[in-house]
Amino acid sequence: MTQNAKNHVPHHVYLEESELPKDWYNIAADLPTPMPPALHPGTLQPITVDDLANIFARPIAEMELSKERFIEIPERVRELYRSFRPSPLCRAYNLEKALKTPARIYYKFEGNNPSGSHKLNSAIAQVELNRAAGVKRLTTETGGGQWGSALAIACKMAGMDCTVYMVKVSYEQKPFRRILMETYGSNVIASPSTTTESGRRALAQNPDCLGSLGCAISEAMDDALAHKDTTRYALGSVLNHVLLHQTIIGQEAKKQMEKIDEYPDIVIGCCGGGSNFSGIANPFLMDKLRDGKKLRAITVEPAACPSITRGKYAYDFADLSHYTPLLPMYTLGNGFEPPGIHAGGLRFHGVAPLLTHLCRHGIVECATAAQRDVFDAAILFAQNEIILPAAESAHAILEAIRQAKICRETGEEKVILFSLSGTGYFDMTAYQSYLAGNLQNYSITDDVLAKGFASIPTNAPAID
Ligand SMILES: Cc1ncc(COP(=O)(O)O)c(C=O)c1O
Repeated sequence: MTQNAKNHVPHHVYLEESELPKDWYNIAADLPTPMPPALHPGTLQPITVDDLANIFARPIAEMELSKERFIEIPERVRELYRSFRPSPLCRAYNLEKALKTPARIYYKFEGNNPSGSHKLNSAIAQVELNRAAGVKRLTTETGGGQWGSALAIACKMAGMDCTVYMVKVSYEQKPFRRILMETYGSNVIASPSTTTESGRRALAQNPDCLGSLGCAISEAMDDALAHKDTTRYALGSVLNHVLLHQTIIGQEAKKQMEKIDEYPDIVIGCCGGGSNFSGIANPFLMDKLRDGKKLRAITVEPAACPSITRGKYAYDFADLSHYTPLLPMYTLGNGFEPPGIHAGGLRFHGVAPLLTHLCRHGIVECATAAQRDVFDAAILFAQNEIILPAAESAHAILEAIRQAKICRETGEEKVILFSLSGTGYFDMTAYQSYLAGNLQNYSITDDVLAKGFASIPTNAPAID
């Protein structure tokens, strides 16, 4: 296609329902070196399917450890996906114009479903796999509220019960997220709570604590383990199977870019636990890993929760009570308590082991973003592209803008693709604070980091 023609690609590139990808892509098959295994915290031996099946439905436990390159999406999951997928790939013509950049900016819009974010991709898959295995009820944690909303909706669709432990600071900042989950029939509990042993312990240590994803995960696991006959736990990010489910995003985006004869020079996604970024990036990274394709992949984390850029590479737990396997990951320590930034979905202390591994090999780069800069980018995007982005997604927007500005300086016509992982319509208190000039930029001191690092277990083997 000529350059002129590329400036006339449609605003939205759609796929037919019949073009919905049939497989998720598992990057575990194509890693440059083997990834260290997750360990059983008691034996310090590699975790097994049987270990994982205590807490997850068995098919999910099997997916977690699979090394198969492509995993077929069950037909029932594809059927449910068809109610909101394929999602559009959009060309950000107005943003390009506002930035006066020669770069071509595309975003994959994952906010066009009732949950408002990419999280529904894994929620539907997890609920369906649990339902098929006879599970009646799921428990989970939620940070920003998006994962909880997605699981609440998916459970309602499948006739399953759902209990969500919502990090207290988000519970207070985002009452409408809580109400949304309750509308779909879920039981929502502010975490730390007095409902579980983990919550009571956290409150005893600090009655005013804002909560953390690590604590909410422990509470949800406490609850599931106490009701093992009916209940399993579902996690919204970090683990291999969640990253796998999210690759539907990149699988579709590849087909869409192919249709308009484009291929990204740079793929960008924000990083909480890593599933959104991996979802859009991994199918493209397959081309880099297998065929040597030139491609930059940039994940973006908040300066207030800098797991990759300032974290340690170590075995750590995903939760505060140490119920999860020991995961080889960048971590700020399972006891790290991040500031109450508005991007609640990016406040996790660790990063998915698969994404950690790719960062360590230089296959993925990491950028950081401060909260006010993120909202500057969110407002610029909203005023030009009209969609109101989630605070989390605006981290990716900011990095896309930075890269587009570099192109303006160099004159390069790079193709930039980012994941617009969700919308911010339930997050108006964040926009309200920004518009009133009250939004803080947080910088984390080394002392605060040291406190978090002290919670990293010392009995696990060192990893270099
Ligand atoms: C809209 C949105 N984008 C991105 C993220 C981060 O997701 P992940 O944990 O998949 O990195 C979240 C997490 O809640 C989110 O709500």
